[in-house]
Amino acid sequence: MSMTIEDCAAARQPRPFPDTPTNVLEQFKMKGKVVAITGASEGIGFAAAEAVAEAGADVALWYNTNDVAIAKAEQLAKAHGIRAKAYRCEVSNHEAVRKTVEAVVGDFGRLDVFVANAGMAISKPLLETSIDEYRKQMEVNLDGVVYCAKYAGEVFKRQGSGNLIITSSMSAHIVNVPVDQPVYNSTKAAVTHLGKSLAREWREFARVNIVSPGFFDTKMGASPRCLNEAYRMSALGRQGHTKEIKGLYLYLASDASSYQTGSDTLIDGGYTLP
Ligand SMILES: NC(=O)c1ccc[n+]([C@@H]2O[C@H](COP(=O)([O-])OP(=O)(O)OC[C@H]3O[C@@H](n4cnc5c(N)ncnc54)[C@H](OP(=O)(O)O)[C@@H]3O)[C@@H](O)[C@H]2O)c1
Repeated sequence: MSMTIEDCAAARQPRPFPDTPTNVLEQFKMKGKVVAITGASEGIGFAAAEAVAEAGADVALWYNTNDVAIAKAEQLAKAHGIRAKAYRCEVSNHEAVRKTVEAVVGDFGRLDVFVANAGMAISKPLLETSIDEYRKQMEVNLDGVVYCAKYAGEVFKRQGSGNLIITSSMSAHIVNVPVDQPVYNSTKAAVTHLGKSLAREWREFARVNIVSPGFFDTKMGASPRCLNEAYRMSALGRQGHTKEIKGLYLYLASDASSYQTGSDTLIDGGYTLP
């Protein structure tokens, strides 16, 4: 950033344009790229895994308790002729994250894209939230993303290239109704700003972008207490289907978004419009 008129007057040499295809469908191709995704057994994480696998990427599906990821990795490999493997990792354990990033790079030889998607919510007002419940959400949703970013970022820096995508939430933008959940909302606001901050920090070697979903029909989608309001608030009158978020992850993971960094994309059926 220039602090004075003299600073900004100094002539700059632009960096070269990227050596990427001009054909847009070619830009979306992921062959030869390695993508790791946390929370990839089901829901939004698996949709992202499926999207990049369908485009030809090799995929590392990270899970914590839901080992259906193991069978799903085999299915993706078979269906799309790619390499895919499941890794168990509790993202709030920094040593486990470090070792799992190392294992992925050991198995696949590199890491091109990391999707920090795992998350959890204990949707309660602060005054009904115990300190342990507060800490648990911070540990998974914020610490977990920081650990993944740190260890994936080290690989990106070493390689001279990389791409981090963070699954945040529309809850980073709004205060949800009718159920108060200030801690979850705050964890998501934190990772959104972390992503923007890293987009600058890593400007020489990696892109960083944020996905902010509204309600999607997954285990973490609208709870029975919120469902009616989710239909009312969404301009499209429903929750999203996970197939409807695949295009966004593929876009951000691929060369189609090569000029995009530090962005935060709301994908919420118009929930946050009013
Ligand atoms: N669905 C929505 O309406 C919505 C809206 C906005 C944002 N989001 C965000 O989208 C992301 C994915 O959620 P989803 O909707 O797809 O629900 P989901 O299917 O329940 O996915 C959550 C994932 O997070 C993983 N996870 C939770 N705690 C973990 C831990 N300590 N270590 C490692 N992994 C852990 C879970 O892994 P295991 O199952 O293997 O334990 C699970 O795969 C979350 O970050 C969520 O906050 C969702």
